[in-house]
Amino acid sequence: MFTPLSDIHLSHLRSIVGDEFVLTDPESIDYASRDETEDLCFPPECVVRPGTPGEISAIMKFASAEKIPVTPRGGGTGLSGGALPVHGGIVLYMDRMHEIIEIDEGNLFAVVETGIITEMFQDAVEKVGLFYPPDPASRGTCFIGGNIAENAGGPRAVKYGVTKDWVYGLEVVLPNGEIINPGGKLLKNVTGYNLTQLFIGSEGTLGVITKAVMKLIPKPKFSAVLLAAFDDPHAACRTVPVLFREGLDPSACEFMERDAMQMALGHVEKTLPNSDAAAHLLIEIDGNDENRLAEEIEKAGMVCDEGGAIDVILAESGQRVNEIWDIRRGAGEAVKSHSIYKEEDTVVPRAKLPDLFVGVKKICADRRVRSVCYGHAGDGNLHVNLLKDTLTDEEWASRLPPTITEIFKHCVSLGGTISGEHGIGWSQKEYLKLAVSEPELNLMRGIKKLFDPHGILNPGKVIDNRN
Ligand code: LAC
Ligand code: ZN
Repeated sequence: MFTPLSDIHLSHLRSIVGDEFVLTDPESIDYASRDETEDLCFPPECVVRPGTPGEISAIMKFASAEKIPVTPRGGGTGLSGGALPVHGGIVLYMDRMHEIIEIDEGNLFAVVETGIITEMFQDAVEKVGLFYPPDPASRGTCFIGGNIAENAGGPRAVKYGVTKDWVYGLEVVLPNGEIINPGGKLLKNVTGYNLTQLFIGSEGTLGVITKAVMKLIPKPKFSAVLLAAFDDPHAACRTVPVLFREGLDPSACEFMERDAMQMALGHVEKTLPNSDAAAHLLIEIDGNDENRLAEEIEKAGMVCDEGGAIDVILAESGQRVNEIWDIRRGAGEAVKSHSIYKEEDTVVPRAKLPDLFVGVKKICADRRVRSVCYGHAGDGNLHVNLLKDTLTDEEWASRLPPTITEIFKHCVSLGGTISGEHGIGWSQKEYLKLAVSEPELNLMRGIKKLFDPHGILNPGKVIDNRN
C-alpha cells in the first residue's frame, strides 16, 4: 500500500530541507520510534526536520505523489501513540520551527510556530504579565503543535478550558501541499465551517499545523493550593461537584488515589503528612484579589471537611505549592516506571465521577488487574492506569482487552467517553466504536478522505476503514 523509501527518495528529501536535516542514523530513528505511550515502538525510515512551511509543502506534495507515509511529531510526549510512524516512512519532526512570531499585547493574542515547547511559550508570555493557561503534565517538553493536534488539557482546564479554547487561528500544510490559514485574531468568526477547530484534536491526520494564533489573558496575581486527605476515595469524588455548586471556581481540582500518591511521592523522593490516606484532592484557586482568594480557599476547605476529609493542608509558600505540583505532575512517569502498563483516559460528567471510580475499581478487582487512578476530578476526567505488575505475559494479554472494554462500556453508560485529553491515536483506535456511533464514524472517515485522499498523513491513526 505504501512505497518504501529508496535512496532516490532520500536524495529528494535532502534537496528540499538540506542534507543535515534528513536523518537515518540509529539514534534518530530510535528516538522517533517511541513516544510516552506505554512500550510501543515503530521505527520510521527517516526523520526529517523541516525549517519552513514551504519545505513541508514540498515534502507533502512529494509524499502524496510517491505514497510515502508522513507522521508529524512534536515533543513526543503523547499517550495514545499519535506521533508513532506505525507504517514507517517519514517522521516530520517539528523542533526547528519554534519561534514566537508575535506577542500582541493590544489584542491579547500570540502567534507562534508550533515546534515551540509549551512551557517556553508560557514563560515568554508571563514575562510580559500575560498567561497561557493550558498546562499538560508534560509541558516542560511537549510542543504547542502536539497540544493542538491532541487538544491537550491538564489541571487548569477545569477553569480555563483545554487547548481548543485558546487557539483562534492556524497555518496548516495540507496533505496535497496547499497551505491554508483558517481563523485569525478574531474573537468572533462565523465565516463558513470552523476549519480551525476541525484541526484541533485531529491528531496530525488532516494537516501539518505550522503556526497558531493563541489567545492570552493577564496573569492572575495570586493562587493557593489545598491538599485534602480522605479515608474514602468515593467521599473525595463526591466532594468535587459540591465545590462548584458552592460557587467556587478552582483553577485545578485533582484526584489521586493512595497508590498514585505513593508512587508519585517515591518517584520524586518527597513525603507528605497523609501519604497513606486512601485518596487526596488537590485544589488550586487563583485570582487577583488576595482577600477574596483567602475566603474562597477557606470555603473550599470547609466543603472538604463536610465531605469527610480527614485532614486539609494549605500550601502557602511558593516552594510548597511547587512541590505539591511536582508530585502530581510526576504521577504519570511514576506509574510508568513501576510496571508495564496501559493508560486509559476516561471522562464522565463531573458528578458521575464517584460512579466511574467505583465501577472501575470493581471491574479491575473482578478481572484481577491492578489499577491505579488519578486525574482531573473537576473535569470528570479519570486516568485509569492498568498495571501488568506480577501478571504473566499470557495473563496480561488475555485480561487486558476485556477489562478495557468493560471500563469503557461503564464509562459510556454514565454519559462519558473513552478519551478526555490523550486522544485515540493508535492505542485506543479499536475501542473508538464503543463511544462513537457508526454514522459519526462514517463522517469522520469521509473527512479524512477529503483532506488526505491518498491516506499518507499519519496513517493508521484515529480512524480508517479498519475500525
Ligand atoms: C496527567 C497526564 C497523564 O494528567 O495527562 O498527568
Ligand atoms: Zn491528565
